[in-house]
Amino acid sequence: MYGFLGWLNVLLLAAMTAPYWLRWINKRTFQFKGGLYGKTIQYLRKIHKPLGFAILIIGLIHGYLALGGFRLHTGSVLLVTLVLVALFGLLFHFRKDKKFFKWHKRIVVIAGFALAVHLLFPNAIYYLLN
Ligand code: HEM
Ligand code: HEM
Repeated sequence: MYGFLGWLNVLLLAAMTAPYWLRWINKRTFQFKGGLYGKTIQYLRKIHKPLGFAILIIGLIHGYLALGGFRLHTGSVLLVTLVLVALFGLLFHFRKDKKFFKWHKRIVVIAGFALAVHLLFPNAIYYLLN
């Protein structure tokens, strides 16, 4: 079950960052305008905020199931980076200050590194501490 929830979260993270990387790919390849492409981007943007909160809840449940409790782990480091991402997303949403959006995106990059470590070396922190 925790495996399923972990991969579900990876999928949701891909959907959350899709408006960014879909546009990047489209600009360099197909150059679609409007139509199904535009509708997809619009839809992904609409579900972005609710998905952000869903990822945090699913991450908590996944971590709890995987470890039978909460402790320092590459997964908890990943979750903390995602909480910060969501916090700056919220700040940008309410304050409309570009500075917060910049931090929203910067910490997404850090979360990406944390995700890579969590997937490739899940027990990295355990080895470092022992
Ligand atoms: C929130 C974002 C998170 C994502 C996207 C994520 C993703 C994943 C994925 C895809 C796996 C592999 C599952 C499998 O083996 O089939 C995994 C394993 C695991 N995750 Fe997470 N996880 C997240 C958060 C957490 C948290 C918060 C914890 C605990 C504090 C955690 C603890 C673990 C553990 C213990 C494993 C098993 C590692 C092993 O095989 O040794 N994860 N995670
Ligand atoms: C937790 C995982 C999250 C990830 C990985 C993430 C990632 C991103 C990325 C990559 C962008 C840039 C998209 C673009 O350039 O068009 C973006 C935009 C944005 N995010 Fe997030 N985000 C997350 C959560 C949230 C949350 C929880 C909120 C607010 C409650 C939020 C609010 C926003 C806003 C307002 C924008 C810009 C406007 C828009 O494109 O609709 N994000 N996010």
